Amino acid sequence: MKKLLVVSVLAVASGFVQAQTVNVICSVQAEWCNMIGTVYAKTTGTKVNISMKGSGESLAQLIAEKDNPKTDIWFGGTGDPHLQAAEQGLTLEYKSPTMPQLQGWAQQQAQQSGFKTVGIYSGPLGFGYNTELLAKKKIAVPKVWNDLLNPALKGEIQVANPASSGTAYTMVATLVQLMGEDKAFDYMKKLHKNISQYTRSGTGPIKAAARGEATVSISFVHDAPGEKINGFPIEAITPSDGTGAEIGSMSIIKGARNLEAAKKFYEWALTPAAQEMAAAAKQFQVPSNKGAKVDKNVPDFKKIKFINYDYAKYGASAERKRLIAKWEKEVNSLPR
Ligand code: G6P
Repeated sequence: MKKLLVVSVLAVASGFVQAQTVNVICSVQAEWCNMIGTVYAKTTGTKVNISMKGSGESLAQLIAEKDNPKTDIWFGGTGDPHLQAAEQGLTLEYKSPTMPQLQGWAQQQAQQSGFKTVGIYSGPLGFGYNTELLAKKKIAVPKVWNDLLNPALKGEIQVANPASSGTAYTMVATLVQLMGEDKAFDYMKKLHKNISQYTRSGTGPIKAAARGEATVSISFVHDAPGEKINGFPIEAITPSDGTGAEIGSMSIIKGARNLEAAKKFYEWALTPAAQEMAAAAKQFQVPSNKGAKVDKNVPDFKKIKFINYDYAKYGASAERKRLIAKWEKEVNSLPR
């Protein structure tokens, strides 16, 4: 016993015992990424390297580093690219003991991927709008998808690019499921005339609307209250003719160099305390752990008309690639 103690003291003294490191790709907004990074590092002594990227961009990075992964864990971002990563063998099967404490949709996300990903939050897609600009332009609050085709909104709407952004891919998949593929693409072609910019990041458009650089955005509605708390004239609404929701997800990378550290981080991220940091960082998704407090700013799912989003189908590689390529060719390339 004494001998062991001496050895471990020596090991510490000589710097033998090194702090664990975990390399995280983080696809939620910066404030939340920074908060989890800082708190986790402080409470566990782990060195946390965080790289922030949109959902589609994260997937592209994981594909690029497949043979030599530099990432240990992918935290957040929409669920479709996480399912695609699972299908492509980029992520590791891992069954968390916390699974029974999670909402049904979070468990379903895990089952559908062969336990290579898990739901950590959920939130509905809708419209953000600048209340002052709408009033000034005398435009009614858009209530259904077709309201976004109003010619008075020409050049006034922003949405992200579905290749880089999971938010925008959720829009494409939602419209295809809501209207049928042909009508959805006709709709997106008409909508294109009213779009001023397809941004890289999913939250770009609501930030632009909040700051008066756009009048309307297509966004996750849980991204609006944070902008409002920051003092901007922004509100959000879900279309009454139906919308989709994301299952924000988390995956451990196959071949992670710091696998044990990745698993520890994963378990921590599923705890109620860690999940409540979303609201503390002014991001108002529904947490996946049933024990986590639901902030009053979190959208009330009972009041929203949801489509029956087929996560397995729209998270499949071939389908996601096909729809994005079609959007590039038939929508993004059109003149405005
Ligand atoms: C924001 C939302 C998240 C969402 C993410 C997707 O951070 O709050 O709920 O998962 O955007 O980002 P992306 O840039 O891929 O659309």
